[in-house]
Amino acid sequence: MALGNESRHGMWSSRWLFVLAAAGSAVGLGNIWKFPYIVGEHGGGAFVLVYLACILLIGVPIMMSETLLGRAGRESPINTMRKLTTTHNKSRFWVAIGWMGVVAGILILSYYAVIAGWALFYIWRMASGTYEGATPEFAQETFASFQAEPLHMMAWQTLFMILTVYIVGRGVIKGLETAIRWFMPLLFVLLIVLLGYSSQSGGFDEAVTFMFRFNWESLTPQAVLIAMGQAFFTLSLGMGTIMAYGAYLPNNTSIAGTVFTIAALDTLVAIAAGLVIFPIVFANGLATDSGPGLMFVTIPLAFSMLPGGAIFGAVFFLLVSFAAITSAISLTEPALAYLVEEYNAKRRRVSITLGVLCWLLGIGSVLSFNAWSDMPLLGQPTFFALVDHFSQNILLPLGGLLISLFAAYVLPKTVLAEQLGIRSGFGRTIWVLLTGIVAPLSVLLVFISALWPGGFDRLLALVA
Ligand code: TRP
Repeated sequence: MALGNESRHGMWSSRWLFVLAAAGSAVGLGNIWKFPYIVGEHGGGAFVLVYLACILLIGVPIMMSETLLGRAGRESPINTMRKLTTTHNKSRFWVAIGWMGVVAGILILSYYAVIAGWALFYIWRMASGTYEGATPEFAQETFASFQAEPLHMMAWQTLFMILTVYIVGRGVIKGLETAIRWFMPLLFVLLIVLLGYSSQSGGFDEAVTFMFRFNWESLTPQAVLIAMGQAFFTLSLGMGTIMAYGAYLPNNTSIAGTVFTIAALDTLVAIAAGLVIFPIVFANGLATDSGPGLMFVTIPLAFSMLPGGAIFGAVFFLLVSFAAITSAISLTEPALAYLVEEYNAKRRRVSITLGVLCWLLGIGSVLSFNAWSDMPLLGQPTFFALVDHFSQNILLPLGGLLISLFAAYVLPKTVLAEQLGIRSGFGRTIWVLLTGIVAPLSVLLVFISALWPGGFDRLLALVA
């Protein structure tokens, strides 16, 4: 049974726009800022392999589930879930997926805009030659002194939020599609330019070895969990972003094919980001395991030591900013589409309201780096850490778990067959195996370990 052919918010002009939009959502700070530093912290090769397995075995099935639910309902995630549960006489409980997504999106965007604001500032900082002849101490201190000034950080956070609100306020076609048509190709070009640059820096072979040589010792259970969490975050899963985008996907498009392409693009960008960052880090004999500071301390320093570093450094942060904005616009879509549907409101108005809300919440994250840096909240060291932990480690896995269970066991087989074009028993077996068993079980593991620190190790100890 067809549940609708068009979304009232507009439709992607082609399947490629969906691919680019979803890839734009997926490719973000998670790929360029976070992936390299967690690879660095977990010793490289083995971690990369586990991460790839998580993308394939957990990420792809959940992304397919989100896309097919979105396309089956053709509304915001909340109303899509309402429609699917009502039409097929299922429990209203599943609508929680939509609500959790709205909350997660607002929370994530609130701090995402703060970090993205740093990236915007660093375009300027690199281009103006701040780091010429810099020492490691200087790089540390300039980052620390920037973080110590809440008003300065807020200025960049505000600029980033204004850009986001402007784009999403213009609608799916005029706003999102236009931004995506420009920013995604530019992003790929910048990435290739930077790859060319870093491959000449002298540290390329070392970087390749670091990222792809398999070493068992560094593969701890903790690293496996972090790889799973990262697979989730980097593919924008668990909060209805992809469901919202799936609602604008034309009917005659293969979901499996598009989702594979999106996951592959996201993975390529993450690996390419590592191959841009690690060579210049190695070329200068710097440490790979400097954590979140990798991008804002080590990278500026590393660029400054190379010829043309100021310009290429600025290009690097421009790339990060493009990646961040195409993700930020996707974070608002579930809430935005819902408010438009529910109150018949103008998209522009709703986006301003949402923007202000995220901006206000974001101030808490800004202050977490200075005035509130010694203020633990609910067991987390700062407000920023709490928002990050609650959204990324609790809401996303829980959302992903419910989405995969709903798609595998609750949604009628006819809708599934129609959306995925599954005809053979074999296709269905693979689907149930991955979406109904492997993905939810793995997510459950991530989830439990997030709520119960050390729990995973104890479980392992019981088994072993
Ligand atoms: N995937 C993005 C990144 O890697 C972040 C992001 C955008 C996201 N939309 C999301 C994460 C929805 C979780 C859910 O930076």
